[in-house]
Amino acid sequence: MGEFTALLHIKHGIIQAPMAGGAVTPELIAAVSQYGGLGSLASGYVKPENMRQQIRQVKQLTSRPFQVNVFVPEPIPDVKTEDLAFWEKRLFVLPKAHMMPSEQGLWDDFEQKINILLEEEVPILSFTFACPNEQTIHCLKQKGIFLIGTATTKEEALLLEEKGMDAIVLQGSEAGGHRGTFLPSKGDALQGLISLISDVKPLCRVPLIAAGGITDQAGIKVALQLGADAVQIGTRFLASQESAAADVYKKAILQAEGSETAITRLFSGKRARGIVNQWMEEERVHEDRVLPYPVQHVWTTPMRKAAAAEGNSDQMALWAGQGIGRIHSILTVEDIMHELTQT
Ligand SMILES: Cc1cc2nc3c(=O)[nH]c(=O)nc-3n(C[C@H](O)[C@H](O)[C@H](O)COP(=O)(O)O)c2cc1C
Repeated sequence: MGEFTALLHIKHGIIQAPMAGGAVTPELIAAVSQYGGLGSLASGYVKPENMRQQIRQVKQLTSRPFQVNVFVPEPIPDVKTEDLAFWEKRLFVLPKAHMMPSEQGLWDDFEQKINILLEEEVPILSFTFACPNEQTIHCLKQKGIFLIGTATTKEEALLLEEKGMDAIVLQGSEAGGHRGTFLPSKGDALQGLISLISDVKPLCRVPLIAAGGITDQAGIKVALQLGADAVQIGTRFLASQESAAADVYKKAILQAEGSETAITRLFSGKRARGIVNQWMEEERVHEDRVLPYPVQHVWTTPMRKAAAAEGNSDQMALWAGQGIGRIHSILTVEDIMHELTQT
């Protein structure tokens, strides 16, 4: 772990997981970095210029290193008109027709973000949902930027290393939020963290970052003993005072048990782990009609936003990992970092 922390100029091998969706504030990111971890700004669902503003806000709050995470665009399969109509009947709030996402739009957004990240001289970037293309990797490496990929299987980890990633997040099936899976798998690609690290460790030379269900020192210790060089922790930081997650969301994290989360495609079209709520229970039977990512995400956005505004957790995406049963209080980031690192 010592070498990896030295490489990133951080004191503790604790990375606050990038979490798209608005919960991660510049204050949260800066506090994690300030207390010796690596704060992460999530650029998913954020407009490029807003990402720039957030980067500048974090820089004003801390001079410590932090990273920015970017979604790598994927092809959007054709959407059947009857499937759109099916969901329009089921959604509590209707999407507007002009909201349909395009693949070109995703690529434009990605390229604008990469250009801004270069302009803002962000030293560490992480990616999820795919491996960036060779041209992007080459351009970023030429500028000396440290690149982190996300893998959910041994095959993905090997590919990311071969393509030039400097470190790899191993996302176990316990993890909250979206799966980073990007290669086809014979099975479900839901490998638990212990077995994933154990499989990848003998094969990869780059540093490995363990993610999924880690909330305390015991979890960190196991991950490091198995050979991880650092950990990436998400849900524990959602339940912090600096997090902008809605109060009902924080309350749900405090109340739910580790067994009360499930993987669903119902909110976004891509598999993600969240606390089971009414929408997940009632719509589970329609998983096979779900629109491809990110169309389902865009289609459910007005409903999720309205639910959040009303303080109604029934139709919100309550992304959370399997470690929630051990989260009992909303602490400051300072207290969380202290709990995770005190000897
Ligand atoms: C609300 C939420 C949003 C997330 N958004 C992202 C994201 O934008 N990019 C990313 O690489 N991972 C994202 N993740 C996954 C995390 O990087 C990480 O794998 C996960 O939080 C680890 O599991 P834990 O939540 O049990 O600690 C998200 C997770 C959560 C809970």
